[in-house]
Amino acid sequence: MTKANIDAGMPIAITLEPGTYFRCTCGGSKNLPFCDGNHRGGELPIRFEIEEQRKVYLCSCGKTADEPFCDKTCGVDLPA
Ligand code: FES
Repeated sequence: MTKANIDAGMPIAITLEPGTYFRCTCGGSKNLPFCDGNHRGGELPIRFEIEEQRKVYLCSCGKTADEPFCDKTCGVDLPA
């Protein structure tokens, strides 16, 4: 992610089922944290796959090196 979303600051904890997801990066989606096709300003979503049901922490600060997931650069203390 190259810029922060409107929900910036802390990771978004969410349990996802297996499938393909698109993380909104423009902040214009009405289905945050996921893309709804808005693509405000030409920003494209980040596509990612989930192989089995699991809890994930989606980055919302825009500083992670492991997009779309939080890598703790924001300073949050995530469970192992
Ligand atoms: S929310 Fe971006 S690194 Fe944690």
